[in-house]
Amino acid sequence: MTDDERFSLLISVLGEVPGSTAAGTRDPRIPEEVTNMSAGYTPGVPRLGIPAIQSSDAGMGVTNPGYRPDDEGATAFPSSIALGSSFNPRLVREGGEAIGREARARGFNVQLAGGCNLARDPRNGRNFEYYSEDPYLSAVLAAEQVDGIQSQGVVSTLKHYTLNCNETNRHWLDAIIDPDAHRESDLLTFQIAIERSQPGAIMSGYNKIDGEYAGGNHHLLNEVLKGAWGYPGYVMSDWGATPQWQFALAGLDQESGVQADLMLWGKQPFADELRDAYVNGELPAERLSDMVRRILRSLFAVGVDRWGPAPEVDMAEHNRIALEGARQGIVLLKNDGVLPIPSDRPLAIAVIGGYAQQGVISGTGSGAVAPVGGFAGVIKIGGAGVMGKHRNLFLFPPSPLEELEKFLPQAHFDLDPGYTPAEAALTAKRSDMVIVFGIRVEGEGFDSVLEGGVAESMTEGVHRSGPGLGEPTVADLSLPWGQDAVIDAVASANANTIVVLETGNPVSMPWRDKVKAIVQAWYPGQAGGQAIAEVLSGAVNPSGRLPITFPESLEQTPRPELPGLGTPWGTAVTIEYNEGAEVGYRWFAETGARPMYAFGHGLGYTTFEYSDLAVTGGDTVTATFTVSNTGDRPGADVPQLYLTEAAGERRQRLLGFERVELQPGTSHRVTLVAEPRLLARFDGTAGKWRITEGTYKVAVGKSADSLDLTAETTLTNALFGS
Ligand code: BGC
Repeated sequence: MTDDERFSLLISVLGEVPGSTAAGTRDPRIPEEVTNMSAGYTPGVPRLGIPAIQSSDAGMGVTNPGYRPDDEGATAFPSSIALGSSFNPRLVREGGEAIGREARARGFNVQLAGGCNLARDPRNGRNFEYYSEDPYLSAVLAAEQVDGIQSQGVVSTLKHYTLNCNETNRHWLDAIIDPDAHRESDLLTFQIAIERSQPGAIMSGYNKIDGEYAGGNHHLLNEVLKGAWGYPGYVMSDWGATPQWQFALAGLDQESGVQADLMLWGKQPFADELRDAYVNGELPAERLSDMVRRILRSLFAVGVDRWGPAPEVDMAEHNRIALEGARQGIVLLKNDGVLPIPSDRPLAIAVIGGYAQQGVISGTGSGAVAPVGGFAGVIKIGGAGVMGKHRNLFLFPPSPLEELEKFLPQAHFDLDPGYTPAEAALTAKRSDMVIVFGIRVEGEGFDSVLEGGVAESMTEGVHRSGPGLGEPTVADLSLPWGQDAVIDAVASANANTIVVLETGNPVSMPWRDKVKAIVQAWYPGQAGGQAIAEVLSGAVNPSGRLPITFPESLEQTPRPELPGLGTPWGTAVTIEYNEGAEVGYRWFAETGARPMYAFGHGLGYTTFEYSDLAVTGGDTVTATFTVSNTGDRPGADVPQLYLTEAAGERRQRLLGFERVELQPGTSHRVTLVAEPRLLARFDGTAGKWRITEGTYKVAVGKSADSLDLTAETTLTNALFGS
């Protein structure tokens, strides 16, 4: 290859969205004949059979934030946190295959999917793009998505490496963590997912980790990823995350969306400076070859160079997958006998709030998908920073109201927009039952913050001063726009109130004891309206389980105050992830606090029981037990195996899970073999995983704090892996 050819592979150019710049022009580096633009374009080398590299977001479908006016829309799958709630690897793989097919049909050979940061903070605006707070669950599911996409000849990323766990001033955020704890948590997620799926590329995050930017982090890229783990693929930066060419020396192989760097840092380092560094000897020739080789290796390994005609895309089948994901992702948090709604009675049902007459909402940012046929509505919200213009309330049809009418044909529906508590209460009062929708738009570039009064009930009136904000600020998990007051008023007016939440994170529920049922629907994707109606009417028996702990209040979490929250764009922020590897339910186990709803929690319309737990030890834990459907409906359960004590030390770890579908009165024997690293501690001095000989206690349960069967076994000393 010539040097021109080699250097041309080391950058990607962001597609200009028509009309988004004053000139409304596209970058001259993108040839005129390229009409399918999205997040990144890298020219190919035709004389060597190397195709142009064209990348698109993301993990919930092929996005089109205005790039391709002729694109009629892609399948908008449920948010990743909804799929995390399904605990169903097979379903995530099917979704990955579908995304891969839709990417390929549009000519995209790199899909920027595989979001697998841990949900460390329930305020993180991007948790909806990630699967869970647990390393093992996140790794297993992310790997299935990557594998599904790559099975279609499309490279997938895993992102964002690593600790990109908050959005607050993310370009200036320094994430501090103990290195061994990092290996046992966020890094373990990437390690297991990489082993299981061999992603062609890893996207580094925006943030710093222990003082070094993710994309220029010699330790994490050269020593851990490429060294200890032997990762053979390439590392691309996030868009606008390469402030200097020296990141190449630290392990970054490709600078993404170079115009974003120009905007943020005033230069495009790999485009403008890397070649000079090579010519004057600062970038060694071997490193240049390594960068190029890694990129090409991944294209060839996944088969990007061997594409035949694009496969047929069966959009009806993809809608079925999206529907199945929404069904399995909906979590029934509470049910005092009001659900399912009887379909054989002419009930008067009030449907209140959340634009339920129009559609279901989605998360925002680079991962937002435009569905086939378009949105049911788009309301611009806006906000500070570069992501402000992407922050919209997107509504996907069909609406929950329309779907409820189909599934409850005898009912009479009365709609109220939830505009004021008083008006909503009037509608509630004259109904037999109320379904009130609570929504919160979350997305890239924003952590949840709420200022002032509504939040008071959750923090018991304690006001804290937010850094950088003059006024007293209560940062909590409330619903915005006064919705808590509407729900409260409605629940006071009608004892049969059901709340349906469309959010990307846990919310506080000051009205929790006043309502009969709570349904967490997340951002359920284009088939979400149908899935919600099916679950409420009992056509589908809910089976989702929480992949993230719902705390009673932020006081229970490791960081009641989020550093930097509310500070202006550009402010340097340091977040100390002092919980280390004890993320989510692990933190609750350590502190002994009881959350509002635990990780793994989820109800259904039937009941399950566990029995006959047998456990063996040695190198790892193997557990066998029986799951029985003891209710009177078919349904699915997700029994979970946890470590609760390791050689005398209290330590909770999800060791395994299995989604089991059972007819009433039937049983199934489940065997789970624990991934040994979940039983070990990382020994940074030895650079290996260490299991200390002793007694290991495990439990099988319905959630992290509902452990039905317990057992113990002995593990032997072991020092292994890297
Ligand atoms: C996001 C990435 C995304 C990229 C390209 C960035 O803002 O952080 O996840 O892949 O944009 O659109």
